Amino acid sequence: MIERANVSFGHQSMSFQKSNTPKFPLLEMLENPIVLQWKEIVHSIKQSATSTIITQPRIVLCDARNLSFKLEPNRYTCVITSPPYPNRMSYIRELRPYMYWLGYLQSGREAGELDWKAIGGTWGCATSNVGKWAPEYDFKIPYENFYTIIDQISQISDLLARYVHKYFYDIVLHSQELYKVVQHGGFIHYIVGNSKFYDVMLPVESIFASIFQDVGFININIQTIRKRTSKKELFEFLVSAQKPW
Ligand SMILES: C[S@@+](CC[C@H](N)C(=O)[O-])C[C@H]1O[C@@H](n2cnc3c(N)ncnc32)[C@H](O)[C@@H]1O
Repeated sequence: MIERANVSFGHQSMSFQKSNTPKFPLLEMLENPIVLQWKEIVHSIKQSATSTIITQPRIVLCDARNLSFKLEPNRYTCVITSPPYPNRMSYIRELRPYMYWLGYLQSGREAGELDWKAIGGTWGCATSNVGKWAPEYDFKIPYENFYTIIDQISQISDLLARYVHKYFYDIVLHSQELYKVVQHGGFIHYIVGNSKFYDVMLPVESIFASIFQDVGFININIQTIRKRTSKKELFEFLVSAQKPW
């Protein structure tokens, strides 16, 4: 129901907006397009829940940059995911209340240290770490204009330029590992959002496509799926690819 939500996803805190939605009396509610859409969605979830689950689901704790430490090589036929976007959204920032409440975190320091392990994390000490970050391995991000974009961002903020550089450096490490664990002929589907830093557009979907190609994936396809509710140039995309047979 994201399309109908009265929420601004433009800001990291996802603050609520004032409601412009008219209030419906109970009877009219039954014909209300929001209620109809809700029913349709519930129906489709109910339908899909009737299919048999053929594989026992498993949860594997593993860093996305080290997939082959925990997952079998050449095994997975389909990967569907939404990785973090380079938009300075911090999962620790959003989830801290639950993390403290459930006892996973005891201190602010721990929160920052966990966010430093996350791709794109910027909470607490993760920000000062990004400010000092330099690549450990010497490889180039395989996208033609990448370093021009980084230079343009660094003219306004060195910290943000490093943040974007580190984000894609981590995505290259992840993609190399991803390639190892996907089966030959298997598919990957990534939902990603583009970003804008000051006036500099960051074509996240094209950079992902180019990285996937560089690590060996083929049949790369980018599909625009949704406009975001923040700046008008921002969209969500589905980037798909296949590992050759
Ligand atoms: C956009 S969310 C999507 C989560 C999930 N795919 C879903 O649909 O609910 C991105 C997730 O990637 C996780 N993440 C970030 N860096 C990671 C890493 N290095 N290894 C594994 N997961 C990571 C974040 O904590 C966050 O939960």
